[in-house]
Amino acid sequence: MTAPQETVRRLGYEDFAGCLALAQDRGWPAEYRAWDLLFAFGEVYGIDDPGGGLAAVIALARYGDRLANLGGLLVAHRHGRRGLGALLMRYATERAGTASVWLTATEYGQQMYEGLGFRATGTCTRYAGYLRPDDQPGRWSREAEPSDLPEIVALDAEVFGARRTGVFAYLFAAAEQIRLVGGPAGVRGVAGVWRGVDGPVVGPVIAEDSDTAAALLSGLAPAIEGPVRIDLYGHRPKLRAWLEEHGLREAGGTTVMVYGDDPPGDRARLFAPVTRAIG
Ligand SMILES: CC(C)(COP(=O)(O)OP(=O)(O)OC[C@H]1O[C@@H](n2cnc3c(N)ncnc32)[C@H](O)[C@@H]1OP(=O)(O)O)[C@@H](O)C(=O)NCCC(=O)NCCS
Repeated sequence: MTAPQETVRRLGYEDFAGCLALAQDRGWPAEYRAWDLLFAFGEVYGIDDPGGGLAAVIALARYGDRLANLGGLLVAHRHGRRGLGALLMRYATERAGTASVWLTATEYGQQMYEGLGFRATGTCTRYAGYLRPDDQPGRWSREAEPSDLPEIVALDAEVFGARRTGVFAYLFAAAEQIRLVGGPAGVRGVAGVWRGVDGPVVGPVIAEDSDTAAALLSGLAPAIEGPVRIDLYGHRPKLRAWLEEHGLREAGGTTVMVYGDDPPGDRARLFAPVTRAIG
């Protein structure tokens, strides 16, 4: 087996299948929707495998000059522990050039990221199962309309710390459901469901408090078919208790890590990302 050259190149849609193949090589699902988002709104970088295909990939989603999200770091099993993962991380962090770089780390990546100067700032816990609604699921939330897009983007910008108009326009086209909680002062919460390879995925969930998040999830529940998953940021004892009462169970977790400044926005209202890789 020839060792890969350490040449990093920007990948395009022609490399899409190669990214999915790398994910599967590491036992990850071929999450095409998450990768589509990364190719559409981020920059995907990779190292070619001289034997064909890709040896390693990473995705960078840059939001202005204050914030970037890293995700999708994968090194082919056959090329593991040769420094390719750390090389791509250094490359993407430098390329981001933002005040803050943010990611969620698996147990395999965390040690490496600490060595590169990232610090753990919180947790991201996965819940999965058959989500049951409350008694009056549609009472507090309503289906979002395309005309709600500007208000949703404004709420996300406040919470996430960057305007993501394209990401939310994409969700309006691709998601199975988007619901919101509104009020006289505007949109107070929004949540979506999109189709993952192994079933529906809830994300994002942006809400002013746990009750609003629960109302959104309850509103989504009746139209969700099969078991669903959600990645929940932070401790969230109240929402976790609600999720457990409504059919979901903890199913693993990752660590939220930051390089540089704390991320902008009001992350207390960010209950779940669109996807972990894009933020
Ligand atoms: C995590 C991953 C990207 C590491 O890639 P890699 O090219 O093998 O990593 P490197 O050779 O650059 O290793 C850099 C350092 O990370 C740490 N590290 C990497 N793999 C590790 C492992 N399996 N166990 C413990 N530490 C590990 C070590 O500190 C290592 O330094 P060392 O080899 O000098 O001890 C790779 O194992 C992978 O693709 N895993 C599956 C997908 C995944 O978890 N991605 C991370 C998402 S956050």
